[in-house]
Amino acid sequence: MDIGTSGIEKIKDRALSLAEEMTRLRRGIHENPELSWQEFATSRLIASKLEELGLEPRIGVGDLPVGVTADLEGGAPGPCAALRADIDALAITEENNVPYKSCKSGAMHACGHDGHIVILLAAAKILSEMKESLPGRVRFIFQPAEEHGHRSGARGMINDGVLEGVSSIAGLHLWSDIPAGKVQWKAGPLMASSDAWKVVFKGKGGHGAMPHLAVDATLAAAAFIFALQTLVSRETDPLETIVASVGKLEAGQVINIIPESAEMSGNVRTFNRTIRDSVEERFRRLAEGVGATYRCGAQVRYDGVYPYPVVNDGALTNLFRSTAARVVGEENLREAAPRMTSEDFSFYQAKIPGCFFFLGSGSEEKKSTVPHHSPHFDIDDDVLPTGAALMASFACAMLGRQRFSE
Ligand code: NI
Repeated sequence: MDIGTSGIEKIKDRALSLAEEMTRLRRGIHENPELSWQEFATSRLIASKLEELGLEPRIGVGDLPVGVTADLEGGAPGPCAALRADIDALAITEENNVPYKSCKSGAMHACGHDGHIVILLAAAKILSEMKESLPGRVRFIFQPAEEHGHRSGARGMINDGVLEGVSSIAGLHLWSDIPAGKVQWKAGPLMASSDAWKVVFKGKGGHGAMPHLAVDATLAAAAFIFALQTLVSRETDPLETIVASVGKLEAGQVINIIPESAEMSGNVRTFNRTIRDSVEERFRRLAEGVGATYRCGAQVRYDGVYPYPVVNDGALTNLFRSTAARVVGEENLREAAPRMTSEDFSFYQAKIPGCFFFLGSGSEEKKSTVPHHSPHFDIDDDVLPTGAALMASFACAMLGRQRFSE
């Protein structure tokens, strides 16, 4: 549907009128963070807010009472567009001295997901109030466990059928290094896939003075660190992007003993699905080959944590761009540079066209330019209404377009 400029203005005004309520709610959620797959009270709170709007929220992913979905039926038939917010906190102890400081040690909303919850709840409120004019259905997805890695909340919700009947999906992330209120969009690859690996080289321990009687696993580990980079420099098209990093390396305990084994683990990221799918075989060949060269066995584990990159659908992102221009103005829009971090929003995009975008929350004055996942992280609450207006307007725009393709 084309809601026109006056429709967008109405949505923006309504969002602004919710500013105080949004700030209060955001701070309340910030004070009570819950880690991945433990978002019990947060999910109940979200469900109760949706019930107040006359919706019928469903709580749960698999067997756990976390995560919430609700459908808003429009006044006319049409497609189903989904809006997604992630709701989990991180295992960090907050070091900000603010009245709404996290009440728990070891848990903190240090990525802005508290803001995402409130933005989506406000968008749900705005859209509920205009439901008679909506041609189709809007599905609100409050997803747990975005930060978990191996056990992604998006994967769990998709297994439970959250995308059934949905034709497109949008996701927003607040970002502290983008000035407050500015919006960044990008068609195509935006964030990378992320695989985790572990290699154990097994040799034979011995005395440091008699290396010929031992098999030194540390040599294999050292050689593998170099060999791994050939995967980037010699086995990948130089016009493509891939990063392979060693994050952990452990061997031995005593200075005059050659250790029996060396264990290392790390991470591989790329924007290209074809490259990503070919990396595991190459990685195993390198690790096993290096192990054999140094007479060591190599045990290799390779897991797709976020096996898909975040790739935004071209047509859908164009639609977002033109909608956002009417919400925040051309001067506040910029094309995003791709980043090698990951997001489990990619699981949705592997199934249906999706658009993931950033809303700046960085303000020097509000001390909200600190990097995400820092114990000093905070957001500028004044951007929350902009987020709600963006999500509500884009939902309307998506209902006007039934098909998207890359
Ligand atoms: Ni995040």
